[in-house]
Amino acid sequence: MDPNIASALAEMDKINVSRLEHPGPSALEPASCRFLAAFIRATGARKVLEFGSGFSSLMIARELDGEEGNYLLSIDTSARYSGLAREGVESSESRAKAEFRVAPLRPRFYGMRLLLSYRLPKGLLEALGPFDLVLIDPPHHEYGCESVLYDAFPALAPGGYVILDDANREESEKKYLRSWQAGYGDAIRPVFLEGIGNGLVVIEKLDEAGPAPLPAADSLLVSLQTLRSAGRSLFRREE
Ligand SMILES: C[S@@+](CC[C@H](N)C(=O)[O-])C[C@H]1O[C@@H](n2cnc3c(N)ncnc32)[C@H](O)[C@@H]1O
Repeated sequence: MDPNIASALAEMDKINVSRLEHPGPSALEPASCRFLAAFIRATGARKVLEFGSGFSSLMIARELDGEEGNYLLSIDTSARYSGLAREGVESSESRAKAEFRVAPLRPRFYGMRLLLSYRLPKGLLEALGPFDLVLIDPPHHEYGCESVLYDAFPALAPGGYVILDDANREESEKKYLRSWQAGYGDAIRPVFLEGIGNGLVVIEKLDEAGPAPLPAADSLLVSLQTLRSAGRSLFRREE
């Protein structure tokens, strides 16, 4: 097994996740928080990008604290939860440099696939990277996840890692992972940790290559699902 993953698995139980602080099911599961923190320690990650601001932002900021050149860029669709996550980090004892951005999801074509994608200035992630670690934990209801790797991959350092949360879900994250594997092939090495929280996949970036043309077979269905999700999000009030 990857030595960083093995080390994080061996050490994660030593990480404290306060039940008083943890906000409950909306946030990264406590076990996943422990793994995340232990993984940052194991890899020595200094620059972290996350999609889905919240309690995980605080866990990351605490680990980055005190590291020279540390930086967290946290992106969320919700101004409210982005603000709460920022307040949580700023009022903590962490001295990590953390930046919070709000970016709505909008449909965008990736090859023949219409996917929901975070609306960010072109080239922003590459300009602020390269990142050592990307955490993908976006809102459960918006299906914005497949595009995230396509957007974040160029900003991820070679040898860097992606952690995908909720990896046990058949109809979403497992499907995204299959598309990513089809597109990136040997340029990524995913390791499935189904027993941690709601399941995590840790993906190591081995090569800059990719993605190859994305699978066309299910593009129509995926694109229709994207249009449905985009339509629903128009009627969902800001949480
Ligand atoms: C799956 S949650 C996880 C967010 C974050 N990674 C965490 O650990 O809290 C995804 C979304 O929930 C929203 N959120 C964040 N904190 C929240 C809270 N305390 N209660 C409800 N929703 C929250 C944010 O808009 C975020 O994108």
